[in-house]
Amino acid sequence: MTVSPAPETAQPFRFPVAARYAGMESSPLKDIFSLAAREDVTSFAGGIPDPALFALEDVRACYDWVLTHRGHRALQYGVSEGEPELREQAARRLSREVATDASQIRVTSGSQEGLFVVAQALLEPGDVVLVESPTYLAAVQAFSVHGARMVGVETDDDGVVPGALEEAIRTHHPRMVYLIPTFQNPTGRTMPVARREAVAEVLRRTGVPLVEDDPYGALSFTGSTWAPIAALPGMGERTILLNSMSKLMSPGVRIGWMRAEGPVLDTLAVAKAAISMQSSVVDQLTVARYLETADLEGHIARVSAVYRERRDAMARAIAPVLPAGAHVTHPDGGMFLWAALGEGYDAQDMLAEAVEAGVAYLPGWSFFAERPDRSTMRLSFVTHSPAVIEEAIGRLGAVIARHG
Ligand SMILES: Cc1ncc(COP(=O)(O)O)c(C=O)c1O
Repeated sequence: MTVSPAPETAQPFRFPVAARYAGMESSPLKDIFSLAAREDVTSFAGGIPDPALFALEDVRACYDWVLTHRGHRALQYGVSEGEPELREQAARRLSREVATDASQIRVTSGSQEGLFVVAQALLEPGDVVLVESPTYLAAVQAFSVHGARMVGVETDDDGVVPGALEEAIRTHHPRMVYLIPTFQNPTGRTMPVARREAVAEVLRRTGVPLVEDDPYGALSFTGSTWAPIAALPGMGERTILLNSMSKLMSPGVRIGWMRAEGPVLDTLAVAKAAISMQSSVVDQLTVARYLETADLEGHIARVSAVYRERRDAMARAIAPVLPAGAHVTHPDGGMFLWAALGEGYDAQDMLAEAVEAGVAYLPGWSFFAERPDRSTMRLSFVTHSPAVIEEAIGRLGAVIARHG
């Protein structure tokens, strides 16, 4: 049999891609991350835990134990719902604030997959999702590629404004509301208890489901923690609550979970199976072992103490370099500080100059579903030492002073 050569074409073959991904070959964030990877740049752009703080020896001991004592199971396929040991541990942790049975847990490969699974399970093209303005941009992406339309709801220093939420529900008839109530990404803000209750009241009355994303809640600098909205009366059944081990243990192991109640649990498992069958069994068993045997609370306390010093360093350094009328958050936990420079400033336009000066941040416009405030920037304070933070913020200050 002879094989005829492929016809010569002037253009290389180009796969046709789905409309929902059209124009997404690159993103401003990808460009920013590669800029920020330069060695001469101090980057505050990514929400990246300080690797020096990883509990490497504890994690190594857990992997060793799993491979030694559960090796054959760990290397085999598992179940879409997640391994029983991990679901038990997740339920135990959650039950400190919201009574949870292991059967109500679905394991995911990080919260990011959780958001995608939720979108697969719940969203129809054209559905509206109400989000905080601003909100976590990769959640917007996970919902948007399923054809959903994001509508941003007004926020203040206490998070989403209940009256505005109610108004948006009446106007847009959303399929769901997506909130990050504790140490929010990107602002670092936390909803106080009274605000959570007011939001829950609106959601109960209007019957709109909540997707509550809580990857940062344990990283508290004050010792105070906030129970999720899912723990409020009547909210457990109408909330899908997402947790992640990324910020507490390691983002590289890619393990998180969702808590839900009722028949939607089956839909979530089917969606998860369609996407990835199950999360890595060896990683699930290792995280379960870690939660069972390691001193996670001690680890979180040590990490939070370091992050708190860094938050302080950034807050101290940034206050004098911001223009009059600027607004900056003072987060009680998490990883991010959010600055709005105010009228006349465009953080995206300033970025190239900042990078030339050796400092990078994430321009805030991309966190808005609509009507972006282009004067905003997100700065992660967790990756660098206080001395490095203070020096780099000084250089950012010189750039800010040349604008406006
Ligand atoms: C609010 C929020 N949700 C979800 C994620 C996804 O995290 P992971 O997939 O690592 O759990 C992040 C990561 O930065 C986040 O900030």
